[in-house]
Amino acid sequence: MWVADMDFQTAPEIQEAIRERAAHGVFGYSIVPEEWYQAYMGWWEHRHGFSMEKEWLVFCTRVVPAISSMVRKLTTPGENVLVQTPVYNIFFNSIVNNGRNIMESPLRYDENAYQMDFEDLERKLSNPQTTLMILCNPHNPVGRIWNRD
Ligand SMILES: Cc1ncc(COP(=O)(O)O)c(C=O)c1O
Repeated sequence: MWVADMDFQTAPEIQEAIRERAAHGVFGYSIVPEEWYQAYMGWWEHRHGFSMEKEWLVFCTRVVPAISSMVRKLTTPGENVLVQTPVYNIFFNSIVNNGRNIMESPLRYDENAYQMDFEDLERKLSNPQTTLMILCNPHNPVGRIWNRD
């Protein structure tokens, strides 16, 4: 259930950008261009009214390596990282492979939808050894988009 592949075509603009990049022909290590910062900051500003400083951004090639880096940066070995299960299985690797413990807060299946168990969440997050929570939104695999509440 956790495979989150697209079942629709990628936007033509993205296909074209990939073709253009492939035509360049050099695929070695590269620098992060200024346009990357501007595109990223612009998207957040435009979509969510959230402005960020360029210095806050660190380029990362994918989501999972970014999660692993955050686990290492924000916690110390032996601490607990909370995930709401069932959840994308690779989150477990990012936690366990870095010597941290998984703290599960299982989602509840109520009224035909998965719900957060806030009592369980509060209890587990109040454990001083639980120093990070990975919130999956949209949630894979349960398909929920968590609302602000
Ligand atoms: C919740 C979630 N995070 C991360 C990934 C993988 O991201 P990446 O390939 O960028 O590491 C997936 C892929 O299915 C996913 O479902």
